Amino acid sequence: MSSSPPTEPALPRADGIALPIHIDRDASAPLPDQLVAEIRRLIAAGAVRPDEPVPSSRRLASHLQVSRGTVETAYAQLVVEGFLVSAERSATRVNPDLPSTPRTRNPGMRTPAAPRRRLRSFIDLRPGFGGDDPLREPAFRRAWRDSLDTDTGAIDPLGQPGARWAIADHLRLTRGMTVDPDDIILTSGSRDGLRLLLTTGIAGAIGVENPGFPGLRQAMTDRELVPLDASADPARGSVGAVVVTPNHQFPHGTTMPIDRRVRLLEWAARNDVIVIEDDYDTEARYTRTVVPTLFDLAVSTDSAAQVVHIGTFSTLLTSAVSTGYIIAHGEIGPRLAQMRTALGPAFSPVMQTAIASYLSSGGLRRRISRGRRRLRAAEAVVADVGPIPGLVHEGRTLVIELEEGRAGSLRHELAEQGILVASLAAGWAGDGDVRHGLVIAHSNVETQVLRRALGTLQRLLGRIES
Ligand SMILES: Cc1ncc(COP(=O)(O)O)c(C=O)c1O
Repeated sequence: MSSSPPTEPALPRADGIALPIHIDRDASAPLPDQLVAEIRRLIAAGAVRPDEPVPSSRRLASHLQVSRGTVETAYAQLVVEGFLVSAERSATRVNPDLPSTPRTRNPGMRTPAAPRRRLRSFIDLRPGFGGDDPLREPAFRRAWRDSLDTDTGAIDPLGQPGARWAIADHLRLTRGMTVDPDDIILTSGSRDGLRLLLTTGIAGAIGVENPGFPGLRQAMTDRELVPLDASADPARGSVGAVVVTPNHQFPHGTTMPIDRRVRLLEWAARNDVIVIEDDYDTEARYTRTVVPTLFDLAVSTDSAAQVVHIGTFSTLLTSAVSTGYIIAHGEIGPRLAQMRTALGPAFSPVMQTAIASYLSSGGLRRRISRGRRRLRAAEAVVADVGPIPGLVHEGRTLVIELEEGRAGSLRHELAEQGILVASLAAGWAGDGDVRHGLVIAHSNVETQVLRRALGTLQRLLGRIES
């Protein structure tokens, strides 16, 4: 066996004290035998894996304060047993042919693949998934680079002041909302905001729009959920909170009229129900926001209703930035701040600084303008390609209703053609009254790509129809 070869690679376990080996000098078993048993144990437990080097005999001897001969004897024994292999001029290592000990209790979970560059082989028309990649935008890259050179200053668990100011400004410029930056609490997205809210102690069931965004419902599986008709006033059922998308209903994209907003706040105040306003991607709407948000309405009318406005940059940018925020009207606000403070920052202050700089540079506003132009162009394509059977809504998304079996098989066939769309049924809560079909974010892609995708869709729908 070679000892301490000159070219020994500096691999993880070869340095320092990374191997937890226990030797008992008072035990009757000889030291080499103890060492053999310990290394067998570590291999069996997966602490050292097949083909990984073990420390050189010199290093291990000095670490364990035993003679080098003790280690060499133990290693020689393990080589004979087949646990280790040694070759001239290379480190002694665990036999590469030994079966790997699973590193996770989940048998379905494989070792993560090496990170790859993103592939663009699919036409992704799922809401919130496709669209052009903001991480490739020069403005975002500049903001990210700058953030690495910027001193983030003291870490504020509620969010870095620069980011909270930039978001307040963004809301003022794109939504006409006047929000005190101090009232903004950063989250890592809508679901994180919702969970934060739930941990502050909302009692009772939660009303959810039906249909509505499945992501938020899935984040509340520990709660009793009561489906509410998204197009009607809330029923009288007893709930502690309701989650609504009044500014851009998911998935239909409709806007809740002002009279229903007023009635909703009155109902919430009377019944002590917290109104959770999920305000995803409203800035991207192609028409100007004329109806005030529920939050604005509650503030301006000094409503007794508690309103929590949940915002996210997942849809305007990408969920890879893990950036959202929450703003509360009513006594729940200080409780939210207290909980966030206890939990610590929702996401990296470096990313917060990057987002602040991207917003302040006007990068996001330019992106929104581009998105609006693209939506108008996508609408023109939809008007141009002719009838799409089953199309029931056209806004930020196309909603196509179909029979259950047809919806599933069509999504499958589209996927086979490289076109990904969302399921309408996935947005419905409960068993009754589920509608089936497709939800398509048609402005995710360039017009030529959309035209091609819609052509395929029409062809497949035509086949179903005939
Ligand atoms: C209605 C709705 N709310 C919120 C989100 C974003 O959720 P999150 O910020 O947790 O990614 C989406 C994303 O598609 C959505 O469609």
